[in-house]
Amino acid sequence: MTRVVLLEGLREVPADTPVLRADDLGVVRGESVFETLRVVDGRPCFLDEHLERLARSAARLEIDLPDGFRELAEKAAAGAPDAGLRLTMTKGGVGFAVCFVVPAETVRGRTGVTAVTVPLGVAADFRSTAPWALGGVKSTSYAVNMATLRHAHELDADDAIWVSTDGWVLEAPTSTVVAVIDGVLMTPPVGTGILAGTTLLACRRLTEILERAVSVEELARADEVALLSSVRGIAPVVVLDGRELGAGPVVKDLAATFEASLR
Ligand SMILES: Cc1ncc(COP(=O)(O)O)c(C=O)c1O
Repeated sequence: MTRVVLLEGLREVPADTPVLRADDLGVVRGESVFETLRVVDGRPCFLDEHLERLARSAARLEIDLPDGFRELAEKAAAGAPDAGLRLTMTKGGVGFAVCFVVPAETVRGRTGVTAVTVPLGVAADFRSTAPWALGGVKSTSYAVNMATLRHAHELDADDAIWVSTDGWVLEAPTSTVVAVIDGVLMTPPVGTGILAGTTLLACRRLTEILERAVSVEELARADEVALLSSVRGIAPVVVLDGRELGAGPVVKDLAATFEASLR
């Protein structure tokens, strides 16, 4: 089941309805903002946090964000037992929500993913000094993110972890990285231009996760690593750059507590 609801009039339309104009800058230049949320029992999870981030992203792209996204999300999610929900606002002024069945591969990722580290080609402090690089903005200019995932797949890995040119861990193309190093859960700082993850935020309400720079060397000797994102949730990295990590106790415990908190 895919449900499409337009912001204008909160009108549900058949899923194959064309909703964008050919000259919408959201399509032509990738100037749209979006959020992807998990839906549990018909309720969009962490909606406040996602709406706040949507507003921050829209401001950075100078996209007018009309009222009504909360009602849009709630209407699109209503009745869906466990689903994904994408909210999009284009620079051309079109807002819409798509509620979709979570792909089986995404659900499988909750039990473990393999990953490789990949250079992003920027220093860890670059994006904080270059607002035009749109660090921390969730825009639909995600072609680089998708190409990085395809590169990982070519290397027989499920996912990738970007690292900076100066040897620091950044994020994954669609998730936040956490690592257990010397018994401490930690995650790279948002000052590196990574997206401020809502799943990370929710997890930090459940347990202590230190925000501090994590070097590539530290990641290579981490006891446990996980990738956090809204729809997949907490994915233990079971193999990293060919090193067997398995799903460790700290991440398993966090994942169980997190899943329980959603219901
Ligand atoms: C680049 C990037 N980093 C991190 C995340 C994780 O964010 P969240 O937990 O809010 O889904 C995402 C998810 O969309 C992402 O695209």
